[in-house]
Amino acid sequence: MISVAAELSATLGRAFAAEGLAAHFGQVTLSDRPDLCQFQCNGALAAAKAAKANPRDIAGRIAARLKEDARFSRIEIAGPGFINMDLTDAALAGFLEDRGEAPPNGKTALIDFGGYNIAKPLHVGHLRSSIIGDCLQRLYRANGWRVISDVHVGDWGLQMGQLISEIGLREIAPIYFDAAFDGPYPEVSPVTMEDLEEIYPAASAACKTDPARLELARRATVDLQDGRPGYRALWQHFVDVSQVGLSRETQSLGVSFNYWRGESSVHDLVAPMLEDLKARGFADISEGALVMPVAEDGDKKPMPPLMLVKSEGGLLYGTTDLATIIERVRDFDPDLILYVVDQRQHLHFEQVFRAARKAELTGKAVLEHAGFGTMNGPDGKPFKTRAGGVMKLYDLIAMATVQANSRLAEQGLGGDYAAEEKAEIARQVGLAAIKFADLSNHRITDYIFDLERFSKFEGKTGPYLQYAAVRIQSILRKAEAEGHDVGIPAIHSPEERALALQLLSQADVMIAAEAKRAPNILCDYAFELARKFSRFYGEHHIMSETDLALRGQRLGTCARTLAVLREILALLGIEVPERM
Ligand code: ARG
Repeated sequence: MISVAAELSATLGRAFAAEGLAAHFGQVTLSDRPDLCQFQCNGALAAAKAAKANPRDIAGRIAARLKEDARFSRIEIAGPGFINMDLTDAALAGFLEDRGEAPPNGKTALIDFGGYNIAKPLHVGHLRSSIIGDCLQRLYRANGWRVISDVHVGDWGLQMGQLISEIGLREIAPIYFDAAFDGPYPEVSPVTMEDLEEIYPAASAACKTDPARLELARRATVDLQDGRPGYRALWQHFVDVSQVGLSRETQSLGVSFNYWRGESSVHDLVAPMLEDLKARGFADISEGALVMPVAEDGDKKPMPPLMLVKSEGGLLYGTTDLATIIERVRDFDPDLILYVVDQRQHLHFEQVFRAARKAELTGKAVLEHAGFGTMNGPDGKPFKTRAGGVMKLYDLIAMATVQANSRLAEQGLGGDYAAEEKAEIARQVGLAAIKFADLSNHRITDYIFDLERFSKFEGKTGPYLQYAAVRIQSILRKAEAEGHDVGIPAIHSPEERALALQLLSQADVMIAAEAKRAPNILCDYAFELARKFSRFYGEHHIMSETDLALRGQRLGTCARTLAVLREILALLGIEVPERM
């Protein structure tokens, strides 16, 4: 798909160049005052400054050059030298015909999202990371990036030592603790996912109240990281059973990753990295720990050093994150590494990024934290179950499906479909409710989880947009059944013009959403598109239209709207049911 604004920028750029001015002044954007004009260019102001000339004068000369271009229906100079432009309906319709994909941009983005932890169930923070990260990976791909997504599983921290020491104390599988045993270890895991979900909270609680237990867990963590065979074997079981459970959950969410690497995958890179940092004078021993100072001149807030090795020898979250940058630069040479992680980890990433830049570990990559706020319960605190526990993803999806089912019944939708199809529609609608609600707020804002509202078929919701798409599908199906041709879109009315302009801004909107790493821009766009379609459809009686050419053109507009709506919903990770 092409960006009309980019096409027009090229045209205006040539006009500026012909006036002896830099082509970049010709940048055209969609009008921010659609009531005044369709497109605007404000470059004459900056060009005038550079050339020490009068901006209205320059704007006038540019406008004069554009007069010959038959695509413009109106070019006006406004205020101090803004160039306001409208295109003819024919030109707009012509642009509508052009439906290519964005060409590869030659750049690689590594997107780190998900961030699940071994042995711990997914919670709502991981849900947000998954939904937002998945949307960004889809968007970046659609915009021509090569995208590598990596879940970066938490499999190497203190929680591993907590599990191991707890299993040791409970004597569940003594063989893994027998230093005299030299393998091979059993192939079947001594613990299931359910066991781990019970063992981990118990171990973590014990460590909070009992320093001796914490010490035991710390020691087990260090031993694991140092390669003690029994611990490694036991740990591998944790990883395997958790991964089965985790991938089942991400699948049910419709989210996938290119890589399931864990923090542990960089273990061998850590020792040489630490040596290198010490040798180059970046890391120092402080109170027995190895730290890397990252404060910079002009810091407004205190910036603590990045901790690399604890005094008792354990590695930290930041250590593996820093080594992972080395690994990613080595393996993928990315232009951008984007971390889609809870905003509360912002300081951590700031420290890691500074350390990486300071030690020049980043290759050509820009490092960026795309943080997000929390999903809260009605009490304004992070969402919990009724019983006060952390809400599991699996239960959340089940809840949304139940809610979707009752909404569908309320709307009288799908009442006579087979049970299987009904269940599938409810699943799709439930997921759409959750995903759209999550993505439609700016990612940094916290929001309140309100399934009741998210699942409504009216207003700015996922189900409303699915329904809008399903309705267009059924219009087109009916047209086909009646033997009507679907033609090429044309513009005859204000509603068609407004809809065409909305359709044509798709590429620009996708670029804007990418630039701000802001899925909510896509949500706004999809909602506005559905509304403009609604007005168009309300105004024109397509099926009963007797002018066959006109009917064909309008069906063409329906088909085009459906294609764009489906594309945007797909970027949001939302499926459109066949029918409802
Ligand atoms: N596992 C971490 C958590 O649950 C998130 C990991 C995010 N990614 C990263 N490279 N640090 O909070």
